Amino acid sequence: MANRLKIIRTVSSLRRALEPFRRPNERVALVPTMGALHRGHMALVREAQRRSERVVVSIFVNPTQFAPNEDFASYPRSFATDLKALRDAKVDFVWAPSVETMYPDGFGTRLAPEGAAKAGLEDEFRPHFFGGVATVVAKLFTQVLPDFALFGQKDYQQLRVVTQMAKDLDLPVKVIGVPTVREPDGLALSSRNVYLSATERAVAPMLYRVLNDCAARIKNGEKIDRVLNVGRIEFDLAGFGLDYLEARHAVTLAPISTSKDGPIRLLAAVRLGKTRLIDNVPV
Ligand code: PAF
Repeated sequence: MANRLKIIRTVSSLRRALEPFRRPNERVALVPTMGALHRGHMALVREAQRRSERVVVSIFVNPTQFAPNEDFASYPRSFATDLKALRDAKVDFVWAPSVETMYPDGFGTRLAPEGAAKAGLEDEFRPHFFGGVATVVAKLFTQVLPDFALFGQKDYQQLRVVTQMAKDLDLPVKVIGVPTVREPDGLALSSRNVYLSATERAVAPMLYRVLNDCAARIKNGEKIDRVLNVGRIEFDLAGFGLDYLEARHAVTLAPISTSKDGPIRLLAAVRLGKTRLIDNVPV
């Protein structure tokens, strides 16, 4: 097939379009997105292309993962620019269903993920979030039936939840986490960075700096609790509102108190004005 981006809007056309590629030596990869694509998404696309012959990028701003007080209505949408980037990157298919296609009248099923989804991190602040993510991602997986699905490590708890969900439901897809893409000053790329004012943007890279600093000190043998307490103070001094700064087991996301309980992932969420930033680093 020539590299012509095909935009697909219904489940039946999606099945028809992918049918010719369900062959032994042909792999299909899915990059699930909510659009507003940036270099982080394009890194997922490149990794998808490296692993498979056909790449589907889904663009769907999923209402079920937003609480009523969150930014569903104002979430950045840039469909035309996204299509151009995907065409330039020689992606094969864009799966862009409407809300009615994904959640038709009478839709009545919602997954309730546990384990990593109840780790007391994002779920404490966005209790509806992982139910919505798990439900939409399970639908995307059964619609596209990909061999691989690529997710950014920036949303680390989401990556763990989706990996567990695919395993628990015996979905025949390998979930791959792709390293976070950062601005030169360390700020993790996110579609929501556009919400930052110039002053906030100047402070935002402190999130990654403090996380890295904490990781280095834990690696050097300092006590985890003490390091995290210093990190929390540093966030406060930088002007962030702190939701959490935690050291967790990198796979289960269970709390850990010593390096022996590792591998360790440090995860943080902070507020800067109206913008909420999340990030994480390995120790
Ligand atoms: O990370 C995202 O963009 C979304 O949570 C996802 C995985 C596309 C599900 O809507």
